[in-house]
Amino acid sequence: MIDELLRQRHLPDLLRFIDGEKVTRENWDKRREEIIRLLSQEYGDLPPAPVSVNFLQKSEESFCAGKANLVETILICNLKEGGEFSFPVKSVIPVKDEKQPSFILINFHDDVPDRYLPSEELCDLGFAVHSFCYKDITSDDENYNGKLASFYCGKKENLERGKIALWAWAAIRVLDFVLTLPETDPEEIALIGHSRLGKTALLAGGLDTRFTTVISNNSGCSGAALSRDKEGETIKKIFNRFPYWFKSGYGEYADKEHELPFDQHFLLALCAPRKLYIASAALDSWADPLSEFLSASAATAVYELLGEKGLDSDNLPPEENVLLHEGKIGYHKRSGTHYLSRFDWNAFARFIKTGC
Ligand code: GCU
Repeated sequence: MIDELLRQRHLPDLLRFIDGEKVTRENWDKRREEIIRLLSQEYGDLPPAPVSVNFLQKSEESFCAGKANLVETILICNLKEGGEFSFPVKSVIPVKDEKQPSFILINFHDDVPDRYLPSEELCDLGFAVHSFCYKDITSDDENYNGKLASFYCGKKENLERGKIALWAWAAIRVLDFVLTLPETDPEEIALIGHSRLGKTALLAGGLDTRFTTVISNNSGCSGAALSRDKEGETIKKIFNRFPYWFKSGYGEYADKEHELPFDQHFLLALCAPRKLYIASAALDSWADPLSEFLSASAATAVYELLGEKGLDSDNLPPEENVLLHEGKIGYHKRSGTHYLSRFDWNAFARFIKTGC
């Protein structure tokens, strides 16, 4: 049934190079580079890594009845083109001696806790969490006056890269920071984002293999969901409203999804063989849970090529609130609407802790 639904979407084959050569375990790295080049037609390339990043601790206070410390750090990035770009990161770090698994959250707000960031619950589950507010990186609109956007986006009429690429670049700088902390277990660093920031998490996490788990929550169009025959939001709709999230040429695929030389399962496949989690919400028809699920299913081919189980399901999207955690690609369809809920966080923590 899943195979038949995937066939009907006429997806480009992950396991064939553009010139038709077959992809094998041996040449996967080369294919991965080709996929990254293809996807840059959508988001543009990330800006270059800074020459160096300095970390300035601004404050530290005891938090959650003494179970954790809340630390605010300023990341000062020395840009390749000259000048500095700084932004704050808030960390909740459990007080304990051993190395800890961490989440890096790309968030809509800078509050800790926040409706999307249950920091005390995560601390009780043994996780450190580091969050930053995407608006501290660049505004979520067509303004290109800020330092990063004026350096790296180019002209509004011909954007070299969109704002998703800038937010993704910042998530990678937070990873640079987290890796310097003595408490961090480098084998367990999960990147997570919701909605437009889920698209961002997939891009950053797909590109930088130091993230050991990548989590997309309700990321939908131009995120986890397949673009071909997608319900709800389409390339035309997203590009009309948010052209500045993308590289300019992406809009040419509006109503021409079948001409795309890739689809969103290419983005998911960049995470292979690392842990990847795609979470949908049952009433989120704009994001289209079925297209998110099928995309995870299509990316499974690369996990299998690399000797891992991907999405472990022969059935159509499982019942609501059932956790598919058997393979390296986790999935659930939570009941309710578009949101990053406690249910989602608990499922992600469990997937990471119980392993696969
Ligand atoms: C809009 C947009 C989506 C996006 C969402 C969000 O609904 O159309 O693509 O995911 O905003 O980020 O909340």
